[in-house]
Amino acid sequence: MTIPIIDFRSKDCVNQMYDAYTTVGFAVFQNVYDEWLDDFTKWKILMEEFFLLPTDVKKLNTYSGVTENLGYNWLEEERLTPTMPGDLKESYNWVSPDRMQEEYWPREFGKPRFKPQAQKIERIARLLSYEFLYKFEEMFSLPKGFLVEKHVDGSATMRMIHYPKWEGEVKEGQLRGGSHTDYGSITLLWRFDDVGGLQVENRETGEWEDVPVVENSIVLNVADMFSRWSNGILKSTNHRVINTDMAQSRYSMPYFVDPGRDVMIENFTNQPDKFEPISAYEYLKWRLAQSYNDDTYIENQEISKEGEQYLNTILPIPSKKV
Ligand SMILES: [Fe+2]
Repeated sequence: MTIPIIDFRSKDCVNQMYDAYTTVGFAVFQNVYDEWLDDFTKWKILMEEFFLLPTDVKKLNTYSGVTENLGYNWLEEERLTPTMPGDLKESYNWVSPDRMQEEYWPREFGKPRFKPQAQKIERIARLLSYEFLYKFEEMFSLPKGFLVEKHVDGSATMRMIHYPKWEGEVKEGQLRGGSHTDYGSITLLWRFDDVGGLQVENRETGEWEDVPVVENSIVLNVADMFSRWSNGILKSTNHRVINTDMAQSRYSMPYFVDPGRDVMIENFTNQPDKFEPISAYEYLKWRLAQSYNDDTYIENQEISKEGEQYLNTILPIPSKKV
């Protein structure tokens, strides 16, 4: 198994995507956002400056907790694999202007360009996520806009991650990001000056495969809910980030895309149904409950955090009926 590299502008893109997502679950895309490369270069500089701030300053924009899932998260606070030590990374989360809470912008940073540029980067990512969804529609001969429409009022979270150069002790089993699958529809991932480290599990052999480093590319993976929506045809695959080179920092930026809470997740293929229809909200509730019972996920902070986050914010619990 190799992780395919696909030219987003090629005529054959949808076919190549079909091959990639029905087998590997991951692909690397080139020529996706060339018109905005400048914005990402500017953003990389701001991102580095932000993470270079003293920890006590960054902590002024500290993580909101799972309810809002916004702001800054310090190293080792999060662990993707429960039995392992915390992950070697720090991150900052933000969302579209209509859902972002003002107090989680880094007020003490002293860079007025940070907030507008962060919002622009989120907008670009949102537009690109629709471009990808159009391609998934084409892949399954769905009416144009079928999937996009279901994500317009959905939710998405942008997260920038810094895996710092690390001279301290690396505890046994400690990774930069433990093994997991994503929850929602699709995840778009930017990597900056990448030193490698992202790996995808081979679905047949269980071996870990490196995701190739390609400049100015996007890695896109299918997440659990989208896999179910496609009647299991599209694959949501385990991935992790290993410590390839601890002498260098690594920056990455995933964009997690989800449908609206009331969207029905029901087989959009022409194959016989493998799963019951379920709303996005009910699915995530079920998925969270399942993760508590699953041995490999038991006490998995990341899964429970992300699950609660979906249930509480992205898919807010409806107020009680009177
Ligand atoms: Fe992930």
